[in-house]
Amino acid sequence: MKLVVGVGLRANTPYAELRALVDSALKEAPGDVQLIVTVTSKEAELALHRLADDLNAELRAIPPNELAEQTPPNPSEHVEQLTGTPSVAEAAVLAVGAELILPKRRSANATAAIGRLPAPGYQPADREVVHRVIAERRDVRRGFLNLPIDNDLLTRVLESAHRAPSVGLSQPWDFLVIRDLATRRKVHDLATAQRDAFAASLPDDRRAKFDGLKIEAILDTPVNIAVTCDPGRGGRHVLGRHADPRTTWFSAAIAIQNLWLAARAEGLGVGWVSFFEPAEVADVLDLPAHIELVGYLCVGYVEEFAAAPELVRSGWAKRRPLEWAIHHEEWGRREASIVEDAIQAGHNAVQAVGQRVRLIVGGDKADLQQADALVIDLTPTKPQADFGVLWRPARTPAEAVEFGVEIARDLALQGVGQLVVQLADPSAEATALAHGLEVGASACGLTHSRA
Ligand SMILES: Cc1cc2nc3c(=O)[nH]c(=O)nc-3n(C[C@H](O)[C@H](O)[C@H](O)COP(=O)(O)O)c2cc1C
Repeated sequence: MKLVVGVGLRANTPYAELRALVDSALKEAPGDVQLIVTVTSKEAELALHRLADDLNAELRAIPPNELAEQTPPNPSEHVEQLTGTPSVAEAAVLAVGAELILPKRRSANATAAIGRLPAPGYQPADREVVHRVIAERRDVRRGFLNLPIDNDLLTRVLESAHRAPSVGLSQPWDFLVIRDLATRRKVHDLATAQRDAFAASLPDDRRAKFDGLKIEAILDTPVNIAVTCDPGRGGRHVLGRHADPRTTWFSAAIAIQNLWLAARAEGLGVGWVSFFEPAEVADVLDLPAHIELVGYLCVGYVEEFAAAPELVRSGWAKRRPLEWAIHHEEWGRREASIVEDAIQAGHNAVQAVGQRVRLIVGGDKADLQQADALVIDLTPTKPQADFGVLWRPARTPAEAVEFGVEIARDLALQGVGQLVVQLADPSAEATALAHGLEVGASACGLTHSRA
């Protein structure tokens, strides 16, 4: 255990007294003392320097105003009058970010408290690199260079992927590295067919935008990697998988993220292609029947890494604000209420342009004939999966309003510019959700009307 000792002392406290005090404290909270901390006015005390030398620890001094900001368990008015802070020993422990494990004890002239130091994070410059590679990782589909990838480099990237966490350390992934053009052509054909099918499913206005998007670089990259998952790997008793088998696929997906980040750091672009029926790819790649495709990646050197996602730059979609995604203690309790926030945003919203969506609140699948329809199902039983149906079983009208706001704002992030709201259910929740849709639409500058 790495410890910090907080010390308060009178001028010229004898070393033997201080040492005996600290030793008695360390007997109760043993560990490796890294740091001795005191107030700046006592920085020059010889006993402290000797203690630091003898314990092979760093000596640090903190100004009284910083110590006074801490909330120690045993503050003292007397100490405050003498030093300008109600606590030195305990406050010093807290001020260096340690957990106080032994409250202050005193001798005739000194006090000592002990704290436990957390394991250190990286230095600021190293931290910056980690956050930078995460922020600057991009899904790349264009601008690949006709350059081979060095085997050692590719191995380094795969090593990082292989270091991913996995449920029960089952490591359910494998990496099928594909360079062969004939194989890539067959996979490319599958993606093209899926691209056409997706385009055909879109409303006209959205399709026109989609036509301008590139969604894969299978033939433009020298290396494709099929990342697979063996859901049974490790046998019957894999730790942590028994209650939630999805954890196997999560593990493989995390390996892909590791690969993606390591590739970015090495200057390799990666594009994830999911325009596939996974079984069809498995067929082309002749995978064993128990192995499933998780991700198909196109990898190569690129002319640049864009600052923002391509879908943002092309106006197809927008990033979701972090505040919407963080809930405190219970679902829906955000830093600012999403409904209040939407009402405020509505005051200065700029008129949006984008596709029209008809929202049928309380409708069912029969309402999905037209591609611009989206059903909101409020029934308590989960309907069969269908991307045309949003299941929002609101528990109260207030929650229904929040759901409505959120749906409208999330649709706006996906390029929707116009909402037509149709109420097919007279319940209080459905009515409230329809109202929430309108509030959310106004917040994003969407035009909205009732059908
Ligand atoms: C599971 C998954 C599947 C994806 N499938 C595709 C795809 O088929 N085609 C494509 O162009 N991008 C695909 N992407 C990339 C996303 O569009 C991209 O991650 C997103 O727009 C954010 O951009 P960024 O990765 O550059 O930050 C996929 C990403 C993930 C995580």
